[in-house]
Amino acid sequence: MTNRITTLSRSVADKVVVITGAASGMGRATAFLFADEGAKVAVTDLSRERVDAVVDRIRTAGGAAHGIVLDVTDADAIIGAVEEIRAELGPIDVVVNNAGLAVGGALEDPNFEDEWMRALDVLLTPHQRLVRACLDDLKASGEGRIINIASTEGITAQRGAMPYTAAKHGVVGLTRSMAVNLGVHGITVNAICPGPILTGITEDIPDDMRDTFARRRTALRRYGDPEEVAHLTLSLALPAASYITGAIIPVDGGLTAKND
Ligand code: NAI
Repeated sequence: MTNRITTLSRSVADKVVVITGAASGMGRATAFLFADEGAKVAVTDLSRERVDAVVDRIRTAGGAAHGIVLDVTDADAIIGAVEEIRAELGPIDVVVNNAGLAVGGALEDPNFEDEWMRALDVLLTPHQRLVRACLDDLKASGEGRIINIASTEGITAQRGAMPYTAAKHGVVGLTRSMAVNLGVHGITVNAICPGPILTGITEDIPDDMRDTFARRRTALRRYGDPEEVAHLTLSLALPAASYITGAIIPVDGGLTAKND
């Protein structure tokens, strides 16, 4: 088709996107997808070696990326990382709060308090810190986008994961609140709720347990691939996604729809 009929842009070319926990799983798949689509990607995670591996892969494929070692529990490091990204790639248009880990914890566990604090420290508190650090850029962008990776645990609950579930419900609440507060600046804020996805977090679960869970709990009867989640992250970051905000969207193979 030589002349387009529609008006909104479906390109993230040259947009600057910062992704936390981008050396593995969904964060890495998201980094690869944005790079494939021409965005400039700030790859951040805990280890230099793993960050560099992702950056090298993107650059080898002809994409633009800058790697930063960032522990999201370190408030000062977040501010430093954002300054570095601005200097290396330019002002930030898209924030993807993705870093995470599995945190257990039944109320009876002696270390429940530690697990609780760890869940909030890694899975919730950093999200608002990174957004505050990027806020001037997101306002100036005109097409600022924030995508928070929550979980189906952000809308439902499994046994034995109370701190994780509470933190992920917090991410959902934070997403709605940020959407309401930042809409006036044209910034959209959405949460994705992945179901069972094959990543670093789930790789140690024995194959037969994974298989049984997926067959029993999901409509599609399988685990998802990280790229299947990255696809929605990219979609929410497009300029054309300008009227989607405050949405909490499952990417869960039908897990939250299923009741049989
Ligand atoms: P993953 O383990 O493959 O990737 C998570 C990344 O976060 C790792 O590279 C890890 O180093 C990084 N990370 C952990 N703590 C960090 C910290 N303090 N600072 C910076 N980076 C840190 O796991 P996955 O599954 O890709 O996790 C991404 C997000 O998806 C997490 O927020 C997780 O809670 C969420 N999620 C995962 C599901 C799954 O089935 N895999 C389901 C629902 C949500």
